[in-house]
Amino acid sequence: MTLQIKSFEEYQKAYQNSVADPEAFWAEQAETFTWKKKWDKVLDWDFKGPDVKWFVNGKMNITENCLDRHLAERGDQVALLWEPNDPSDEVRSFTYKELYAEVCKAANALKANGIEKGDRVCFYMPMVPELAIAVLACARIGAIHSVVFAGFSAHALADRIKDATCKMVICSDFNNRGTKHIPVKKVVDDALAMDCDSIETVLVYKNGDEQVPMQEGRDKWWHDEVNGQSPECEATEMDSEDMLFILYTSGSTGKPKGVVHTCGGYMVYTCYSFRNVFQYQDGDVYWCTADIGWITGHSYIVYGPLLAGATTMMFEGVPTYPDAGRFWEVCDKHKVNQFYTAPTAIRALIAQGDEWVDKYDLSSLTVLGSVGEPINEEAWQWYYKKVGRERCPIVDTWWQTETGAIMISGLGDHSPMKPAHAGYPLPGIQPCLMNAEGEELEGNDIEGLLCIKYPWPSILRTTYGDHERCRQTYFSAFADMYFTGDGARRDKDGMYRIIGRVDDVINVSGHRMGTAEVENAINEHSMVVESAVVGYPHDIKGQGIYAYIITNGPVDDEDEFRKEVLKVVTEEIGPIAKPDRIQVVSGLPKTRSGKIMRRILRKVASGDMANLGDTSTLLNPEVVEEIKTGAEELR
Ligand code: WT7
Repeated sequence: MTLQIKSFEEYQKAYQNSVADPEAFWAEQAETFTWKKKWDKVLDWDFKGPDVKWFVNGKMNITENCLDRHLAERGDQVALLWEPNDPSDEVRSFTYKELYAEVCKAANALKANGIEKGDRVCFYMPMVPELAIAVLACARIGAIHSVVFAGFSAHALADRIKDATCKMVICSDFNNRGTKHIPVKKVVDDALAMDCDSIETVLVYKNGDEQVPMQEGRDKWWHDEVNGQSPECEATEMDSEDMLFILYTSGSTGKPKGVVHTCGGYMVYTCYSFRNVFQYQDGDVYWCTADIGWITGHSYIVYGPLLAGATTMMFEGVPTYPDAGRFWEVCDKHKVNQFYTAPTAIRALIAQGDEWVDKYDLSSLTVLGSVGEPINEEAWQWYYKKVGRERCPIVDTWWQTETGAIMISGLGDHSPMKPAHAGYPLPGIQPCLMNAEGEELEGNDIEGLLCIKYPWPSILRTTYGDHERCRQTYFSAFADMYFTGDGARRDKDGMYRIIGRVDDVINVSGHRMGTAEVENAINEHSMVVESAVVGYPHDIKGQGIYAYIITNGPVDDEDEFRKEVLKVVTEEIGPIAKPDRIQVVSGLPKTRSGKIMRRILRKVASGDMANLGDTSTLLNPEVVEEIKTGAEELR
């Protein structure tokens, strides 16, 4: 089994080894997995291309390592535990043996429906076990999964299906979240009506009692296709560098990009980081509250924990249903040991009052994780005191869709801990801080742009169908470095504190959003001439979305107009992208070359209007006063 670090001294030693001889370090970790053929070379890399290959010419299948490998030793241990949306519904659980059989059956069903190695399969699914099963079934036969979070709109889904030319969609008929029973198949039907010609089959998991229209020849029920299949399916041999999955994420341009992860390196590093960050011990119950539609769910609900032979829990519902004590009720009910969630959820629960957490027995908890955005001091303290009862370390895990797995974080109880600091890099991760002139900032107690100097096994390999975009976005800002897009501080002790994005990406409730993407959506409204979207501090969401909009004529009813804008954004992207504030303006502050001065818009949106800097060089300085007045009225 993959190494597990047991003290800060061991961490320091492992870190030094990983930097002194990265290939030897990662070879040792990789040896602990099942390979069909061993690699010829540990690493080949060049950040200029970029062209990064780990475990070159190694052959394997990640599902053999998630499932088959564990059958002898822990076949009867629960692999996947599922907590339903409605607490009175039955919990479902799958032992490693059972999960193996379910994955094989689903894999055979995919094959029977013409899915072959290299084909792309799109997912639009609720958090039911069949989502994890079908994801693993794809990996079993070498099909590439592209999971789309089921809160995205039909439009956004269609864009992603087309970009990856997917052959199949796997969805459900309905999705249960809190009191809502959401008709998801309808969204898929709408998406497929938008020229998704590559789709041959839609596999529908039945999750509701109502009838849904099924298109003859295209739509098939999951149970009809899967139930009769053989519970054995040979794992397709994959090269280390064959694609495992595509996951779309937002960037600073309007179009989301398909981040590509490959098999070998992703396997080694997700398992390594899982074991070390969460300090999972045999018999523990681990729960990550993320949705599998995001990278956190891929790496830390499905792959990382199963590779490590853990019991991983999946939750169908939301933190506030049936009441604001649900997370803690579930921790108590299943005796959860490691709990991993996002600061936005914690802040939302703080607002509901302490009585919801105080009444549960949380003595099983050993490690608390945080992910997705900076955790503010107040949320950190509450998490530590109220949930962890001052017994559990908090691991503040910094990483990204592109990094595939956790990069900077404490390792359970074995690292020094400081509120709002992610801490030290994991072994194998070589972060550095750069200034805008491209110079590396040495020493401690400094702030700069966070880059990574050396490849790690789960680094993204490309952006699907557009390698140049990958190079441009991540490898061109600084020579021979991966640029994260985040600003960070290294404090006097060498611990990292993530400040946040320095590009036009905002982080709303831990969901990553491109401001340009939201602007494009707003601009679809027939009255909108131009818009500018910025983030501003928001008590619960971390960042809220603030939209400045120029219309092509007077707006008679501003409330009605705002509703229409929200509707357009919901249709184009999904409800998660809805602006929190909309201000109609007659102009936007622009430089003489016509560039929007976002700095000013961000300050106004944050209510920091006293100190806007020099606005005299603007093309239209007079508009600033109007924007300030309008913003005051909105607040
Ligand atoms: C961005 C990546 C990593 C999985 C979920 C988000 C921000 C992430 C932290 C943290 C401060 C964080 C960064 C990063 N972020 N974790 N612990 N502290 N900021 O993945 O959607 O790809 O977003 O989330 O700004 O760049 P993602």
